Amino acid sequence: MLFSNPISVLGSALLGFAAAAHASSILPSVFQARQITQTSQLLSAYDYVIVGGGTSGLTVADRLTENPHTTVLVLEAGSFPKPEDVLPVTDGGTRRQENYLYQSIPQKNLNNQSFFVVLGNMVGGSSGINGMMTARGSAEDYDRWGKLFERDSKHDWSWKGMLPYFKKSISFFPPPADVAKRFNMKYDASYWGKGSAVDASWPSYQYPGLDPLLGAFKELPGIEFTADSGAGGAGVYWFPTFMDPVKRERSYATNGHYSNVKRPNYHLIADTPVRRVLLKDGAAFGVELTKDNKTFTIPATKEVLVTAGAIHTPQILQRSGIGPRKVIEAAGIKTLVDLPGVGQNFQDHPEIKAEINLGGLLQIHPNAHDLEINATFRQWAEESWSANRSGPYSIAFGNIAAWLPLTAVSPSKYKSLSAALSSQNHSAYLPPGTHPTVAAGYTAQMRGLAQAMLSPSTVFARILLNGTTGAVGPVLNQPFSRGSVNIDTTDPFGRPPVIDFNGLSNPVERAVMVEMIKFYRRYHSDTALAKLAPNETAPGKAVASDAEIDAWLPSGVTPSDWHAAGTAAMMPLELGGVVDQTLRVYGVKKLRVIDASVIPTLPGGNPCHAVYAIAEKVADLIKAGV
Ligand SMILES: Cc1cc2nc3c(=O)[nH]c(=O)nc-3n(C[C@H](O)[C@H](O)[C@H](O)COP(=O)(O)OP(=O)(O)OC[C@H]3O[C@@H](n4cnc5c(N)ncnc54)[C@H](O)[C@@H]3O)c2cc1C
Ligand SMILES: *[C@@H]1O[C@H](CO)[C@@H](O)[C@H](O)[C@H]1NC(C)=O
Ligand SMILES: *[C@@H]1O[C@H](CO)[C@@H](O)[C@H](O)[C@H]1NC(C)=O
Ligand SMILES: *[C@@H]1O[C@H](CO)[C@@H](O)[C@H](O)[C@H]1NC(C)=O
Ligand SMILES: *[C@@H]1O[C@H](CO)[C@@H](O)[C@H](O)[C@H]1NC(C)=O
Ligand SMILES: *[C@@H]1O[C@H](CO)[C@@H](O)[C@H](O)[C@H]1NC(C)=O
Ligand SMILES: *[C@@H]1O[C@H](CO)[C@@H](O)[C@H](O)[C@H]1NC(C)=O
Ligand SMILES: *[C@@H]1O[C@H](CO)[C@@H](O)[C@H](O)[C@H]1NC(C)=O
Repeated sequence: MLFSNPISVLGSALLGFAAAAHASSILPSVFQARQITQTSQLLSAYDYVIVGGGTSGLTVADRLTENPHTTVLVLEAGSFPKPEDVLPVTDGGTRRQENYLYQSIPQKNLNNQSFFVVLGNMVGGSSGINGMMTARGSAEDYDRWGKLFERDSKHDWSWKGMLPYFKKSISFFPPPADVAKRFNMKYDASYWGKGSAVDASWPSYQYPGLDPLLGAFKELPGIEFTADSGAGGAGVYWFPTFMDPVKRERSYATNGHYSNVKRPNYHLIADTPVRRVLLKDGAAFGVELTKDNKTFTIPATKEVLVTAGAIHTPQILQRSGIGPRKVIEAAGIKTLVDLPGVGQNFQDHPEIKAEINLGGLLQIHPNAHDLEINATFRQWAEESWSANRSGPYSIAFGNIAAWLPLTAVSPSKYKSLSAALSSQNHSAYLPPGTHPTVAAGYTAQMRGLAQAMLSPSTVFARILLNGTTGAVGPVLNQPFSRGSVNIDTTDPFGRPPVIDFNGLSNPVERAVMVEMIKFYRRYHSDTALAKLAPNETAPGKAVASDAEIDAWLPSGVTPSDWHAAGTAAMMPLELGGVVDQTLRVYGVKKLRVIDASVIPTLPGGNPCHAVYAIAEKVADLIKAGV
């Protein structure tokens, strides 16, 4: 039975402090990275206790245990995926019934609707349920991270400092030569590496309906056809899938950073949520958890690393007495470190549910609909998949999108929109009572984004292309709205966090979205796509003027593309930051946050690759004693 004897855990915890320097000497000689199921298997103490066995947590655990003298314990709230949970990538790669499913509070600028927040609750975290799209966003996104700090320190979080870790964190496999030739896919191996067991690879098939969708972007001004998705540019580009190139299964933190690792010093306990981090004299010394209604302490002699993701990390910090005093005290918890930024600066990529169907694409064969109506095509697809995992069933969520700068989305308005963002009173768009440091950080972010609006190289709008249905409604890749994730003060340990996207709160963000919808329409009307029977079902023809489009937004925008970030931001303390450039929590010794929470402003791409790269970069800092 797990933790059947609290005394032994607590008792050995005390011994552990003394034994830690020689932790490796107490390990059995034949061992493996292992799932701990009994108290007797636990070491008396660990060098590092990692809270959350998700995307970043398993990456860091893998890297730290490369040193055989470093002991690591990962505590994960969710369970291991079962064999029957593993599906073909076509069907999403995994099936999980037990993910976190929360609802935001009603969104006042979105017709008081509440929105779902979905997160991976499993060994592997959200990398186990995500859309497997790899992307990095723009080089300038990371340069803006670096610039939030006064001078570039040796911990360089700019693009230059991140690029080695983008390369290290994924193993790249080039697209199959025949598909690459057919669709003119290019890639530049200098942006990629083979430093990790998390793979990025390609399906062996793409639908020909993509041809007109790609061609139409060539008819519009200011749009580059970027050769490589990893080059940090903007434009139309192909991107790989987080997928094993041979088995064509999801490649994620579990099979990339846990089950493939055989090391006696790497321990993991599943099904074990952590309640809080324990502090003494301003330093983290362990974590507290409950099992079978008993409370246990797990000591960490070197550091506690919180990697619970952008929704649960602020919850754990606030429960531990680290965060905004007024929230923590309202919950009846003692404030140990008054850190106003914890849980603030919450952001996600909003989706605009505009929809223009291209009926004409169904005349281009084969297409995904043919899998249902053409038995010959379906049979070939099934045979290809079972013979060698090739064919249409090797496609996950697709591999091509337009990642457009605002200069291309709105050549006529990008300058005035940038000026409007620069000159607005930013704090007026934050919730009332926002701490002045958090407001100062928001202003710094918005000034940086106002510059980015003038750049042809920062991605603002993502438009995914589907060769069967057409161009999926645009996603805003540089959101200006900032919300919050705080503990539920009525029951901070029993109830989920209170999630407020504060969606559509900034009027310039709305104006950018209006331009995105107008671009989406021009893409269908001012190009050869006009001949493929475009049929706009949302917002619909009746919604014509800018004012009418703006009025449609509250019913047409979803504040989340499942990219929660920012709630323990890496920014200076005086800008509302929670962690410094070593990802240490301000005001606490021996405590770091390493996950999507530290992202100060979301990159202009889906964030999973950035999360892996952040984890790799910090693992190197920790190993170097920084
Ligand atoms: C549905 C969905 C689709 C997405 N699609 C894409 C995509 O296609 N491409 C892309 O780049 N990004 C995508 N993302 C985003 C990307 O997957 C995430 O940004 C990234 O995985 C976050 O990593 P993380 O380490 O911050 O958190 P996670 O990977 O979520 O890990 C956090 C872990 O902590 C655990 N945990 C939480 N609380 C506790 C506790 N109290 N005690 C112990 N453990 C705890 C959780 O169970 C979880 O395993 C998607 C996300 C989702 C949810
Ligand atoms: C949203 O709810 C608030 C408070 O109940 C109310 O004042 C407001 O009119 C509602 N807005 C909409 C669009 O329904
Ligand atoms: C824990 O306590 C709750 C409430 O007192 C009780 O319902 C539950 O059965 C207990 N669980 C265990 C495993 O003892
Ligand atoms: C069905 O698919 C096969 C194989 O792709 C193709 O040769 C055939 O023309 C298709 N039939 C119809 C009716 O579209
Ligand atoms: C995979 O199998 C299909 C169907 O048997 C076959 O047509 C194709 O050539 C095979 N591809 C490879 C790369 O082996
Ligand atoms: C595109 O849309 C069709 C129809 O909804 C769907 O079946 C298919 O999986 C989607 N993706 C790709 C890459 O075609
Ligand atoms: C900016 O907005 C804040 C918050 O609404 C307000 O307190 C402040 O007075 C405003 N500043 C100016 C210069 O208008
Ligand atoms: C456009 O789509 C709507 C909704 O699916 C449908 O009712 C309508 O008939 C379509 N119009 C055309 C011209 O196909």
